[in-house]
Amino acid sequence: MVKKFIFLSSLTLSFVLMSCNTQAKEDNVSKLKKEEVVLQKGYEVYKNVCSSCHILKVDREKMREMRRMVMMGKKPPLKAPPMNEVSARLKFFFEDEKSFKEFVKDYITNPSREKGKCMPMAFKMFGVMPPIGKGLTEEQKEAVATWLYRAFNDKWEDFHKGGRCKMMKR
Ligand code: HEC
Repeated sequence: MVKKFIFLSSLTLSFVLMSCNTQAKEDNVSKLKKEEVVLQKGYEVYKNVCSSCHILKVDREKMREMRRMVMMGKKPPLKAPPMNEVSARLKFFFEDEKSFKEFVKDYITNPSREKGKCMPMAFKMFGVMPPIGKGLTEEQKEAVATWLYRAFNDKWEDFHKGGRCKMMKR
């Protein structure tokens, strides 16, 4: 009788545990799915709205070459800094994802030279970005800002070796 009771209660317990477990798993899965959807949406906003000026990626050599061209008074081959460089730079200035995204959402809506984290050279190369974000919904801005944060692993140091830029950190 006691044995039976123990057996039954452990059975019940394992059912409860199992269902907790699957619940947790489902929550994780739906969280992952939501993140994937936001990233996908962010990428679409990039493709449709930002990619006419910002190319996706450039390597350090190419970045240097462009800087050299501008220093020699030539026009750069791009209209705006590439997204992997923008992402790395803003991660350098903003410690966490939240403040990074706040900055991006505001900057694309009300860009200005004073607010910008680009270096003087970049403004010389490209001019100030137009307020593209005015035509986007909050959701689209959130998505593209999340994508800009998550989609790249490049580090600031990969582009700008040396301490000069470190001094610009607030
Ligand atoms: C018409 C061209 C153009 C389009 C379209 C455009 N940008 Fe820009 N963007 C620029 C230029 C030029 C700069 C560099 C000068 C500056 O920072 O204002 C820039 C800079 C930026 C910066 C860097 C700000 C900083 O201070 O580091 C971010 C972030 C950015 N763009 C995000 C976006 C996003 C996201 C989109 C799409 C929703 C987008 N841009 C669409 C031209 C554009």
